[in-house]
Amino acid sequence: MQPAGTNAQPAGAADPAADSGGAGVSGMQDTPPATSTGVTYHADIRPVIEARCLGCHVEGGSGPFPLDTYEAVDAFGGLVVDAVMTRRMPPWLADSSNCRKLKHDQRLTDDQLALFEQWMAEGFEEGDPATYSPIVEAQAPDIGEPTIVATAARPYQLRANYEEYVCLELDASFPEDTYVTAMDLVPEHEEFVHHAIVSSGSGRCSALGTVAENIYSHRPGARTLVFEEGDALLIPAGSQLAVEFHYNTLFTERGADVPTDQSALRLWTLPAGQTPQRVITRYPFHDLTISIPVGATDATAGGSVGMGTASSPPGGGWATGEIIGVTPHMHALGKSFNELVRKADGTEVCLIDVPDWDWEWQLDYFFTEEDVVQTERSDTLIQRCAYSNTAADQPVVDGVQQSPSFTRFGQDSADEMCLGYVWFRYNWSDL
Ligand code: HEC
Repeated sequence: MQPAGTNAQPAGAADPAADSGGAGVSGMQDTPPATSTGVTYHADIRPVIEARCLGCHVEGGSGPFPLDTYEAVDAFGGLVVDAVMTRRMPPWLADSSNCRKLKHDQRLTDDQLALFEQWMAEGFEEGDPATYSPIVEAQAPDIGEPTIVATAARPYQLRANYEEYVCLELDASFPEDTYVTAMDLVPEHEEFVHHAIVSSGSGRCSALGTVAENIYSHRPGARTLVFEEGDALLIPAGSQLAVEFHYNTLFTERGADVPTDQSALRLWTLPAGQTPQRVITRYPFHDLTISIPVGATDATAGGSVGMGTASSPPGGGWATGEIIGVTPHMHALGKSFNELVRKADGTEVCLIDVPDWDWEWQLDYFFTEEDVVQTERSDTLIQRCAYSNTAADQPVVDGVQQSPSFTRFGQDSADEMCLGYVWFRYNWSDL
């Protein structure tokens, strides 16, 4: 009898994770290893989970449980496969198959879905750690340290077992026009900060109704938003910043000790006096006439706006610009969201296709540079929202599912919206 560990030595030395495979090695001398041609955790599932799930599903992350070991994934095996197969996870609502290709697309491919399905059918096999190789992703650009880090003046005391929307004004001032090349929001307590919407302008929380001022939305697992080289978003001189935080501590016990939060907005800006090559604006395309009767399953809203009309976004210039992305926004009754450009000859260019809306996941979608859409004065921007207002569609508030009621446009979560933030980019020289 050879010592059990001998054969495993080379692999173990190369990959520390192989140590955990030791338990299976003892039988190897007597019975040949089961030569599985099937799908295994280490060879097929782990690389996908590392690339698409661990941004959130780690200890202290925004996901409700870690998925960073075989044991953890195996423990939730059926649930994990179901979340993947139904595309609930990873959160990424836009379907690019007949629309724009998106930067950092998080959707699993159909082939990857098939692997998860087969892995379950074959009994969630662990496999050999030596067969693991990571999915290599493009490196994020090195943007150095932020130039502005802004927080609320005081830490905000959270309440246990509670969900709330709080507007906090940030301690930052902009004596001159400031051009932002990258931004993010760093939650002090990632597990409690569900969303945060940053607005620039009057900056006063009382004025937050003006969606035109929203410049950034944070959500769990968000990465730093880095504009292309030469691009920047303008914060005009005299602006102030406010953030509407959506805090959620519902999974803590009532009366438990919960911390204060003082999350930080980080901005990377151009040096004072420097102007960007291309300016970015976020145009809020709204429908204020929404009306959704009780029981409706096919209510719609939306609208169209000519690119050459006077109602240009702040900064102007959009008729001759480019559309680089869309951030769809609806509330709980939303079913689907589509945004497109209709050319003068009637052809339609898809901007974003969200076939299955989920109001928990308000994401920004940016097109790959090859898929950016040039606009002309004769173009029409079209937005389509669909809703369903049955008993089953209602949001759960404080553990109670609300009953359907006639629903109109409004800011409250019980109201609805059909709002697309269209990200425009135009040449500084065209202004
Ligand atoms: C952007 C952060 C994020 C990413 C990335 C993410 N999750 Fe989640 N996940 C969450 C959050 C938050 C919840 C709890 C709220 C919810 O269910 O939406 C959750 C819930 C779950 C659940 C339990 C609820 C359900 O819907 O079944 C499973 C299982 C799950 N995630 C699996 C995965 C898998 C597998 C991946 C990768 C393929 C993944 N998640 C990627 C944040 C994330």
